[in-house]
Amino acid sequence: MIIGVLNQKGGVGKTTLSVNLAACLARDGSRVLLIDADPQGSALDWAAARQGEPLFSVVGFPRPSIHKEIGQIGQGYDHIVIDGPPRVTDLARSAIMAADVVLIPVQPSPYDIWAAEEVVKLIDEARIYKDSIKSAFVVNRKITNTAIGRDVREALAAYPVHVLNAAVTQRVVFAEAAAQGQAVFEIDHNGPATAEIQAVAAELMEYAK
Ligand SMILES: Nc1ncnc2c1ncn2[C@@H]1O[C@H](COP(=O)(O)OP(=O)(O)OP(=O)(O)O)[C@@H](O)[C@H]1O
Ligand SMILES: [Mg+2]
Repeated sequence: MIIGVLNQKGGVGKTTLSVNLAACLARDGSRVLLIDADPQGSALDWAAARQGEPLFSVVGFPRPSIHKEIGQIGQGYDHIVIDGPPRVTDLARSAIMAADVVLIPVQPSPYDIWAAEEVVKLIDEARIYKDSIKSAFVVNRKITNTAIGRDVREALAAYPVHVLNAAVTQRVVFAEAAAQGQAVFEIDHNGPATAEIQAVAAELMEYAK
């Protein structure tokens, strides 16, 4: 499965979810490659901060030819996660074309809901060439028991894109794990952050297959 984690909006959790999804899939025994398609190189920074054994391979490929080269780059892996860039349209387009499924993280804020229009449009355009591309929203940084946390799903329903039931809550452990180049399950063990990532991974794989 090739999962593109994309949203033109910055700071929505693309890298956080990419790294933790890749880690979750690798933990289940799959051979996983994370492609950092962001010129900022955040996933590469994450990998560089890590001490000890890598959980999965990470390569930087911030070029708009990912869709052409993914076959070569991804040889020998069961799953590939592409961490997309904010803003850079040609890179995002290429990552979408490379993907079997595009996962779109959105925060429960009206700005994020409006801004999602851009990536939804890019996916629609890409489907002209590759109609099999699937897409799904995942709510990230949900704050429990808030009205906006509940309303976000309703607001997202205005887009013709599936919304995952599984969501990821705002938790400091995501930033703490990132600072050490770790996946949340390595510090949160079988805690709630780990369970949320597992639920997102399981639902996404089921939806995309
Ligand atoms: N669920 C969460 N709980 C707490 N902090 C989070 C969560 N998700 C992301 N963050 C934090 O929010 C910030 C932005 O997240 P991240 O870098 O993953 O977003 P991004 O979409 O990859 O950003 P960019 O568009 O710059 O690539 C980071 O500091 C990250 O640690
Ligand atoms: Mg990022």
